[in-house]
Amino acid sequence: MSAQGDAPAVEFVSVTKSYTTKSETVRALDAVSFKVEKGAIVAVVGPSGSGKTTLLNMAAALDFPSEGSVRVAGVATSDLGKDDLQRFRNQTVGVVFQQFFLIGHLTVFQNVMVPLIPRQLSSADKSRRIIDALSMVGLSDKAGRLPSELSGGELLRAAIARGIVGDAPVILADEPTGNLDHRRGFEVVDILVEESRTRGKTVLISTHDLRILDRVDGTVFLEDGELVRTEGKRVSGIGA
Ligand SMILES: Nc1ncnc2c1ncn2[C@@H]1O[C@H](COP(=O)(O)OP(=O)(O)OP(=O)(O)O)[C@@H](O)[C@H]1O
Ligand SMILES: [Mg+2]
Repeated sequence: MSAQGDAPAVEFVSVTKSYTTKSETVRALDAVSFKVEKGAIVAVVGPSGSGKTTLLNMAAALDFPSEGSVRVAGVATSDLGKDDLQRFRNQTVGVVFQQFFLIGHLTVFQNVMVPLIPRQLSSADKSRRIIDALSMVGLSDKAGRLPSELSGGELLRAAIARGIVGDAPVILADEPTGNLDHRRGFEVVDILVEESRTRGKTVLISTHDLRILDRVDGTVFLEDGELVRTEGKRVSGIGA
């Protein structure tokens, strides 16, 4: 399942995702089509409930389309068997969740190590990657702390370090600016922009904060699960 040379980094083709609850069927995404160029940093914008988390979960292969297809780094997520799926989640995408999901009894260093555990790397190589990731987010001096000993912004930076440590080609960050003041929100976006620019990563960031839009290469606008438009040269809606 190696990545294909010139394939878009992320491609959604007529992706519909329906959730059925006791009382209704919700279309969290409705025939969404777009593609993102390799190495681009793209914002996914829309009101609460518009489908941002659903879209990112789909790109992370944590969830799958009801209809349509999702390709990431040239791979159709619905085609992945069990082993390839694990490898995809571990190595093709790096994910920063809206609720962080750091493990409370592990230090920052140990939390950032988690995605490296299944990888065939020497301990020295793992340590070097963790040290680099913590340095990238400015948390080198807090490596020995527990999550409960960090501020909200520091927790987020630890979650970003865990998202980038595996050196995956695609980084998916769900509302990383959510609870931060503007200056700190921008710092977080700047870390991800730096990651994209220096290491060629493709980055999707969901956000409510339209002020980050001049820092990214393009934007996907969602409303009620529909892609209403895209902006920027490095992202395009397909037949939308
Ligand atoms: N597991 C689920 N079961 C039923 N409905 C769901 C489920 N997950 C999401 N939804 C619904 O799908 C729609 C899109 O949700 P999603 O979490 O993707 O929105 P969002 O844009 O990320 O919102 P927010 O900005 O609040 O994080 C919402 O109407 C939500 O209620
Ligand atoms: Mg969300």
